Amino acid sequence: MCGIVGYIGKKRNAIDTLIDGLKRLEYRGYDSAGFAVINNNKIKTIKETGKVVGLQRKLQEEWSEYKDTSINLGIAHTRWATHGEPNHDNCHPHCDNNEKFAIVHNGIIENYQALKTQLELKGCKFNSETDSEVIVHLISECFEGDLAQAVAATVKKLEGTFGIAAIALEDSNSMVVARSGSPIAIGIGNDETIVASDIAALVAYTKRVIFLDDDDLAVITADGVDIRTLNNVPVSRETTHIDWDTTDAEKGGYEHFMMKEIYEQPTAISNSIRGRLDFKLETAVLNGLNFTPIEMAQINRIIIAACGTSMHAGMVGEYYFEDLASIPTEVEQAAEFRYRNPIIEKNSLVLAISQSGETADTLAAVKEAQNKGAIVAGLCNVVGSTIARETGRGVYLHAGPEIGVASTKAFTCQTTVLLMLALKLGRNRRLSGQDGMKLIKEINNISTLVETVLEQADNIAQIAKKYAKMNNFFFIGRGYLFPAALEGALKLKEISYVHAEGYHAAELKHGPIALLEESVPVLALANDIAGKDKIIGNMQECRARKSPVIATATIGDKSIEEHSDDIIWIPECSEFVAPIVTVVALQLFSYYFAYERGCDIDQPRNLAKSVTVE
Ligand code: F6R
Repeated sequence: MCGIVGYIGKKRNAIDTLIDGLKRLEYRGYDSAGFAVINNNKIKTIKETGKVVGLQRKLQEEWSEYKDTSINLGIAHTRWATHGEPNHDNCHPHCDNNEKFAIVHNGIIENYQALKTQLELKGCKFNSETDSEVIVHLISECFEGDLAQAVAATVKKLEGTFGIAAIALEDSNSMVVARSGSPIAIGIGNDETIVASDIAALVAYTKRVIFLDDDDLAVITADGVDIRTLNNVPVSRETTHIDWDTTDAEKGGYEHFMMKEIYEQPTAISNSIRGRLDFKLETAVLNGLNFTPIEMAQINRIIIAACGTSMHAGMVGEYYFEDLASIPTEVEQAAEFRYRNPIIEKNSLVLAISQSGETADTLAAVKEAQNKGAIVAGLCNVVGSTIARETGRGVYLHAGPEIGVASTKAFTCQTTVLLMLALKLGRNRRLSGQDGMKLIKEINNISTLVETVLEQADNIAQIAKKYAKMNNFFFIGRGYLFPAALEGALKLKEISYVHAEGYHAAELKHGPIALLEESVPVLALANDIAGKDKIIGNMQECRARKSPVIATATIGDKSIEEHSDDIIWIPECSEFVAPIVTVVALQLFSYYFAYERGCDIDQPRNLAKSVTVE
């Protein structure tokens, strides 16, 4: 949450690079935006509430001639408000009282109130309600001529999480960054260095990226980076080559990132699968897990820790691991895992699933599991992200950047990878070569099936339009389609702001059925897989209460027609693949529904993509 960008170099105007970076990071928060640069021996800040376009407008109004000045150094921020409402004073960057230092911060300073009181007693004047502002006043207080030393002394006083970029008026040739819990990526260019919370802001300028570890501090110049510990001991961090393309992080002709990412799914899934199916040994190859066959055979329990959409993917994984590999599996909401004091036994595998690899609760679950001696692996999309590095073993999705706040391709790639992992674990146990090969063929066909769903887009759009005035929805499913129902409801509520609940179809009559009436449609996942007959019964119960029923059904399955008002057709597939393919249809339904209601699809209110606070 919150995106920070920093630029130093003579190759281009720092302000343009900062604004471009902010736009690419806007999915991390869009309550306000601002930047600070050194110009004419002054720190100049411009801030604006709302989105980055507002900041750009303000820049044109207040300083249209900025392009005539060479500006080599600056920091910028796009905010997801935690402390203090999204007004001008609370926008970052924050400056000290003498305007000699400026900082941007991503994270939460838990002891800010105590620090603020101490600083106020010394005469320091605060201009915002944010927790972040204490950082810049502390830097000013600790400064003895060396910004790196002042930042090190400051962060030693902080409790909580932070990614910080700081500049000092006295030194226009460097910037200092530090991290603890919030990501900092440093892009190494030629005669320029760019810093950001996320590689999405860097790939347009360089593919060479260094990720800071917790408690690292780095002095950034146009020539590169000098990384050290908070006690000034030099450390070296490896440079990663990023293979994302700039166009991957742009809309490419689509009106919204969400739609682009929905349509990218066949390719993204193929990329997740590429090189990972072994037709000879009839298994999957997931080298990043680094398990010997013996180690793998010893895994006797799997715990999946994740949040939101990733947790729903994990729920599908639970079915896979139990059905295909006979390994008892449970899914934990990551925050609950951390605070519930879970029982971890020898040979338990904890699998952390996270698209961003930065989700605070999932990261905390990883640390808790490691602390308790579990084998911990990550399933992440963002290369070099904190969870990927912290776990040290795992599987990357290779889905490319997911920018739309509503997660789409991450879900389908996560479930595909989980299916491959179940295949691998299954083949390591009782799954026969024949069944392994059958599964390999199904996995290989997922992209084609997703394409078939995408071909139904017009039909799905019509149905979404028909129901777009409704304000309450239920999504119901059973078995493999139960997690898909949860995911469908999550998609609808987050981008269209209507109340949507995902329920197990059988659970409906244990209370929620009381809510059913004409104005409450039920979206029933009635594909022709195990559980279909039962869900038909549930659909009848809903219709008896006058709820309109929209069903997903297998192409050619006429039996659903008499039990539903509208049908979204899904290609025939096994129960393993059904949740993956069906969710694509639900993503489209939510998209068109929200579109019809005029919602801000890529940046829904109150949300941010990377949830780096608890
Ligand atoms: C929903 C959504 C969120 C994320 C959740 C976890 O569309 O995007 O529910 O799935 O915040 O994020 P990651 O996967 O990055 O850990």
